[in-house]
Amino acid sequence: MKITVVGTGYVGLVTGTCFADTGNMVTCIDTDEKKIERLKKGDIPFYEPGLSELVIRNQQEGRLVFTTGFTDEIKQSSVAFICVGTPSRKDGSANLDFVFQVARDIAHLNDSIIIAVKSTVPVGTAAELKSLMHQLGKDRIRIVSNPEFLREGCAVEDCMKPDRVVFGTDSYDTLKVFHDLYQSFVRTGNPIMSMDNVSAEMTKYVSNCILAARIALINEMSLLCEKVGADITQVRQAAGADHRIGTQYLFPSIGFGGSCFPKDLRAMASLFRDYEMRANVLEATILANELQKKNFCRKIKNYYAEIDMSIAHKKIAIWGASFKARTDDVRESPALDVIDFLIKEEAKVVIYDPKANSNITALYGSQVKCVDDPYEALDGAFGLCVLTEWNQFRHPDFDMMASKLSKKVIFDGRNLYSPAKMKELGFAYHSIGRV
Ligand code: UDX
Repeated sequence: MKITVVGTGYVGLVTGTCFADTGNMVTCIDTDEKKIERLKKGDIPFYEPGLSELVIRNQQEGRLVFTTGFTDEIKQSSVAFICVGTPSRKDGSANLDFVFQVARDIAHLNDSIIIAVKSTVPVGTAAELKSLMHQLGKDRIRIVSNPEFLREGCAVEDCMKPDRVVFGTDSYDTLKVFHDLYQSFVRTGNPIMSMDNVSAEMTKYVSNCILAARIALINEMSLLCEKVGADITQVRQAAGADHRIGTQYLFPSIGFGGSCFPKDLRAMASLFRDYEMRANVLEATILANELQKKNFCRKIKNYYAEIDMSIAHKKIAIWGASFKARTDDVRESPALDVIDFLIKEEAKVVIYDPKANSNITALYGSQVKCVDDPYEALDGAFGLCVLTEWNQFRHPDFDMMASKLSKKVIFDGRNLYSPAKMKELGFAYHSIGRV
């Protein structure tokens, strides 16, 4: 099938590349010339495991083409996926200018194409796009809502082997096209679920709200575990062994972040307000997540207050700054809250992240120092904050850490180490929901 993908950000690039890899002819369009030049050379502007190899191979085999402008390819495409950004406006609402402009551009070139919206758009956007097509006299164009559920760090696998494919449409003829398109991704029998547009739009938000609420709930329970002396790891494992509960998205942490959860939750809460309803659970989830990050900073503050030490002008090390492992993305990363707190306390912040150093430098400039070696970050530091669960942090050289740190204290926002072992090794160790 011939496909056009507009927008080569995270979602567009992964989606386009995976469709190309299953034999489709894919043209990816982006207005950013520099980005397109880089992509043509197989140079991916962000870190995503496995993606670079696929981009290079599919270009070499002629199924994946990158271009800057709206081209003739759209005329021959059966489907155009809109994957452009929907940045937040100052009032928190999504700016859909790009989405609507792209829809107009596509409609101008092909009046019988299927336009599939993959960008996360407010509920009701498909209806607006349909009326736009009607105004333009392009009633043959079909609008499909096709949310993505890709996780950064395993996006290629999520795209190739989705738990489910969801698409919303009101037109019978798009059903076959979408079933054909996604068939190779669901060979193990995972469902392709078609529904009306607005239900598909809601599904994306509801999924993220449920996942985020689980994390917020386990994080809240971890606070109580600390008070009553219980171990959240054991509690989580035992609770999760109940099939009704399950084990995923129950890892206590310093809080959830990223480009999706926080933004999607805010968007849903605002939709409730539009209907003059109160989103009790959702508002509590957002609040609990903010408090979780603040609690972690308070833990650091309390520790130094108790030993009567100021961290002003003292070095504090950070391991991990991305919002989770296997990505260089620092958008709404909880690490930023800790960095901001430490800067406010006038500490000298030294950061090591395997992939996110350059994104952190772009944000903080000379306010922090990023280093390329985790142990270098510890040299003479008065404490270490572990903020991202990168695998390489799971089994560090504790002797080397002890020899480098001026104060053997670790604040672990991801529960990577055993409290008993840390005690044995002589570290002061503060984690989440364990004493
Ligand atoms: C999420 C959704 O999972 C994905 O389906 C959607 O398309 C985009 O948003 P992503 O933002 O890549 O994906 O991150 P995810 O792996 O879901 O993690 C989100 C945040 O929750 C991270 O900060 C992570 O560290 C945190 N998290 C996750 C926890 O704190 N505990 C957990 O148990 C799981």
